[in-house]
Amino acid sequence: GKPLRIGVAGLGTVGGGVLKLVSANADLLSKRTGRPIQVVAVSARDRSRDRGVDLSNVRWYEDAADLAVDPDVDVFVELIGGSDGIAKQAVEAALAAGKHVVTANKALLAHHGAALATKAESAGLTLAFEAAVAGGIPAIKGLREGLAANNIREVHGILNGTCNYILTEMRTTGRDFADVLADAQRLGYAEADPSFDVDGVDAAHKLAVLTAVAFGAHVDFKSVHIEGIRHVSALDINYAQELGYRIRLLGIARRTEDGIEQRVHPCMVPITSPCGATDGVFNAVVADGDFVDKVVLVGRGAGAGPTASAVVADLVDIARGRSTPTFGVPAAALEPAKAAPLSRR
Ligand code: NDP
Ligand code: HSE
Repeated sequence: GKPLRIGVAGLGTVGGGVLKLVSANADLLSKRTGRPIQVVAVSARDRSRDRGVDLSNVRWYEDAADLAVDPDVDVFVELIGGSDGIAKQAVEAALAAGKHVVTANKALLAHHGAALATKAESAGLTLAFEAAVAGGIPAIKGLREGLAANNIREVHGILNGTCNYILTEMRTTGRDFADVLADAQRLGYAEADPSFDVDGVDAAHKLAVLTAVAFGAHVDFKSVHIEGIRHVSALDINYAQELGYRIRLLGIARRTEDGIEQRVHPCMVPITSPCGATDGVFNAVVADGDFVDKVVLVGRGAGAGPTASAVVADLVDIARGRSTPTFGVPAAALEPAKAAPLSRR
């Protein structure tokens, strides 16, 4: 079949991973979609840096917004980051130019998800973001497609790999917070600004997106209650263990009579519970649906391979011609945001 031509903006941890995956699994992807997935253009800041794959036949753009409107590009893949600035500008330019968009950028979606979904859907385009929530776990597709027949009562989980890695390493190796955070940065888990990870903001971005998909409501980042893990000490972690608990940074969203409650904060969870048993860079997403009951998804929440796996799964959907409303119901039918006051549970 006709190749699906992609332009990749951002060639760091995730972008580099996507280039490698598309090249390593080219035959498999082509067999699964009936057409080759071809990288035709890329953009990053530093042209001289080796990206680990041969880019000699690929068009290079200094400016991601120029790549976004390249007439040879069918899908614009945004892997730069940031809720505003170049990422937003380029995604908007791509949609205006009639390109499908795949992004891993939860900050962008948390702030502008509903507006971007409206733009995409009104132009008959796909805005896909499996990689934006819980790395390699198919959490978006799991909720939006797999649990589409259910009223979701609650969704909660470990949504930040860096924090879970830090909390796990502090417990199992006794190393201190700063030391482990430096490791998470070296491994490509942390955000460009790691305070987004440790202060709970990244988990809150993801929760806001997950909530929209779970409840068919507008993405409502500003009403997420956010608390990070900076104040969690080794002593807290060890006392929790003595009592049979783990300390996890959880994102929790529930529908209540007063609206939707969204919260991110450290929690004590039983060691044997799904979140208690999820160590290291792994994430867990637990959804509770009225007919299915509880569903648990666990997998790597950050890093090049797992995140690329999710980005390319979105490309496979587009190559197959599959399209689903961005947040599970058409953007025009999303419920207005209605934030519930925090409960004590
Ligand atoms: P990196 O910092 O590793 O890579 C960012 C890339 O964007 C780099 O290639 C950089 O160029 C490029 N870039 C930065 N500014 C510009 C600009 N103005 N114009 C063009 N390119 C630019 O980030 P990650 O790969 O870790 O993250 C990318 C996105 O994926 C973010 O939205 C992040 O939140 C998200 N994400 C990350 C995950 C992870 O595990 N790392 C997991 C899930 C989502 P250069 O290389 O030349 O410096
Ligand atoms: N910084 C993020 C994390 C990357 O650690 O979970 C994955 O979104």
